[in-house]
Amino acid sequence: MGITLTRPIVLVGMMGSGKTAVGTALSRLLGVAFLDSDHEIERAAQMSVAEIFARDGESFFRARESEVLGRLLTGHPCVISTGGGAFLSEANREMISQLGVSVWLKADLELLWNRVRHKATRPLLRTPDPKATLAELLAARAPVYAKARIAVEAEPGLSINNMACKVARR
Ligand code: S3P
Repeated sequence: MGITLTRPIVLVGMMGSGKTAVGTALSRLLGVAFLDSDHEIERAAQMSVAEIFARDGESFFRARESEVLGRLLTGHPCVISTGGGAFLSEANREMISQLGVSVWLKADLELLWNRVRHKATRPLLRTPDPKATLAELLAARAPVYAKARIAVEAEPGLSINNMACKVARR
């Protein structure tokens, strides 16, 4: 695809919106590196995100998340996938808007739930009613994700590659 990236694309949005899968496909399409903030946090800590939450708490995780984002956002063209909470911090949003282009992968509750329901890896969804928790998070966060430069709607039947093409065309 004849698109030359000049800045990093930073994918934001809820858990299950496809940031990692679409980001990987998009980076291949554009011929740039793919970086995943959760993965980088886990690599640096030598622990999973769930273990970090359990041992050190969410605020510790958020501090590591901001550090990692700062490190990944060098301004070089690449695709960066962020954890679902990263864009909620105003400082992170500023950093992202200065050095990259934020793209919200927008998806509705049913789509998100279908994708996360069988995975027990998300600490924020370890609640008695994870679907209700997901709904609450979505309602609270959507207005913040809407501050992203670009919003791309994830449709249920759309393949990962087609979703990546949809992002690239924007
Ligand atoms: C979180 C989303 C997760 C991970 C952590 C917190 C969130 O990433 O960063 O569990 O606050 O929504 P994904 O969005 O990649 O699942």
